[in-house]
Amino acid sequence: MAAERETEVPEAQIAVHWREEAYVYPPAKFIGQANASDPAILERFREERFPECFKEYADLLSWDKYWHTTLDTSNPPFWKWFVGGRLNASYNCVDRHAAVRPNQAALIWVPEPEEERTESITYQELYRRVNEFAALLKGFCGVETGDRVTFHLPMVPELPVAMLACARLGVIHSQVFGGFSGAACGGRIADSQSKVLVTMDGYYRNGQLVDHKVKADEAVARAREEGVEVEKVLVFRRHQGQYASASPMVEGRDFFVDEVMADFRDKLVEPVSMPSEAPLFIMYSSGTTGRPKGCQHSTGGYLSYVAGTSKFYQDIHPEDTYWCAADIGWITGHSYIVYGPLALGTTSVMYEGVPTYPDAGRPWRIAERLGVTTFHTAPTTIRMLRKVGPDEPRKYDYHFKHMTTVGEPIEPEVWRWYHDVVGKGEAVIVDTWWQTENGGFLGSTLPALQPMKPGSCGPGVLGVYPVILDEEGKEVEAGSGRAGNMCIRNPWPGIFQTIWGDPDRFVRTYYEKYCRDKDSKDWHDWPYFSNDGATQAADGYFRILGRVDDVINVSGHRLGTKELESAAVTVEEVAEAAAIPVADELRGRAVEMYVALKPGVTPSKEIEDKIALAIQTEIGAVARPKHVWIVPDMPKTRSGKIMRRVIAGISNFGDVGDITTLANPEVVDEIREKVQAEKRAIGEGPS
Ligand code: WT7
Repeated sequence: MAAERETEVPEAQIAVHWREEAYVYPPAKFIGQANASDPAILERFREERFPECFKEYADLLSWDKYWHTTLDTSNPPFWKWFVGGRLNASYNCVDRHAAVRPNQAALIWVPEPEEERTESITYQELYRRVNEFAALLKGFCGVETGDRVTFHLPMVPELPVAMLACARLGVIHSQVFGGFSGAACGGRIADSQSKVLVTMDGYYRNGQLVDHKVKADEAVARAREEGVEVEKVLVFRRHQGQYASASPMVEGRDFFVDEVMADFRDKLVEPVSMPSEAPLFIMYSSGTTGRPKGCQHSTGGYLSYVAGTSKFYQDIHPEDTYWCAADIGWITGHSYIVYGPLALGTTSVMYEGVPTYPDAGRPWRIAERLGVTTFHTAPTTIRMLRKVGPDEPRKYDYHFKHMTTVGEPIEPEVWRWYHDVVGKGEAVIVDTWWQTENGGFLGSTLPALQPMKPGSCGPGVLGVYPVILDEEGKEVEAGSGRAGNMCIRNPWPGIFQTIWGDPDRFVRTYYEKYCRDKDSKDWHDWPYFSNDGATQAADGYFRILGRVDDVINVSGHRLGTKELESAAVTVEEVAEAAAIPVADELRGRAVEMYVALKPGVTPSKEIEDKIALAIQTEIGAVARPKHVWIVPDMPKTRSGKIMRRVIAGISNFGDVGDITTLANPEVVDEIREKVQAEKRAIGEGPS
């Protein structure tokens, strides 16, 4: 025991075995047209210019009244940006573009069924629809500035219309991911005390018209249990005049939007001029533990930040056709499908369904047909497309200039496929690190100015100064090969304002750990703790290891789950990998590796051995997995994150926890039967 304890290394000193990757440089053609191609921009945002540097972002917006104070730090850590300023988010995303380019598409909506028509919504048409829905919310539901309205909508244009209609009225929206259950939605309705729920009868997913309205009944019941009474449920219909749900419309509570709309056709509503610090929306974090946190985002700070980062990091120009394949039910969709792109007046593509429906060529057909220039997705989708259609992109004539990866660390091997095959070697890639809480990107390369490095997000973005701190609050030096806790030293305009209804939890979770002086009104004393682990290379680039608990301690070596998984994915047959810790008598902990293979590959002992060898070669013998389990599919959240907690529960013969919110709960039993039977057979079962 004593010997074991000696090998314990503090959390913040994870030994990092990850190999450094070489730089990849942006294509000249990209640089030639980039919004940020002059290195002077880096000067303008250096620390000495903070916080005034962010004037450059705020000036991308139209203000009704200009602010007098860029950053107010009088009540830390509740920062206020652009104080004294007034603006309306809907005006900024709709009216001002409708005035100058009314006939340009603001949104292009691609329904999942390929035979259904793609819908193009011009800025002028968006203006009409946003006004009408705002008029309906006000006139029919009686909502007022400062009220909350919950949406439980799928990926349909009605969702951004509803968001912008709320913004027009100064009403705070809270969109709950459409794939979540009615109960999850009800809990969020109660937390935000919404009196109105906006939903839809059904939507297409994987070829099926899913009944969605049933969840509204469940949501209303759950909200009632938690003490909140929903007064009106507004129901959009996926197909005009047809009702796709088996759930009855409740008299006096449920209303079809298309019927109620008769009274509001062509009505216009003046955008309400809101203070910069007024909340724009609440987004519940998808956290796997504890109560969901309602992240409250501001109007002026948030909108400035997403506009600025969309311009310089997404390199959005009004004439681009930009497709972010995330769901608007996540922060990525709020910031980088709706608010950022529309604030810049570009054309933003929305897709209703799953990327592999009806086959793995679908995203590339969409890109070819619409002339998509800019593509944005997550590693989980990239891995899936690589798994089921590794050669599909070559069959289609599309050309991206810019691509984004976001949401989790990407394995360098997968990054290279994204670059070489999806991007055809012509596109620059940004790996953007951030969180629901952050509003917009925190770590990324500036695409024309800083080279890419597969697997690293890059340095802090403009005006954001990250630092890695150890458990004692000491800086972990760049290039030291050590990992620690990823923190941001300064406030930035996109930071959330608080956790809705729980300011103490806000301070506790993100600021308490590293606050140097609770009475200080100097932002330098209040670093933001991201709860992510990271390492920083000598060149300043960060490599995010995931949440700090995503680390496996084998004989005192702290192995990042992501570096283990990256090693496994270098094996040609492997599509996806997940590393988890198991109790081990000798080593305290040992690694078990779960992998899913590419289609058509037959599982074999040889492949298992190859994977174990790859990990040993890439990282070291200490990391050699105790077992490699080949499984048909990984248990995943609805947002595509692999649930390591579930497979760890299986391997350790323990509790797998709540699996009701998984995208594929059915694989859990299948994996458990296989793994636990094999373990029992070799005497590794519980005694
Ligand atoms: C967590 C936040 C960011 C919007 C979508 C997810 C992980 C996010 C990266 C990246 C490595 C990443 C972090 C972070 N993460 N982006 N580029 N590289 N890890 O928002 O659901 O709030 O998740 O996702 O662990 O804390 P979220």
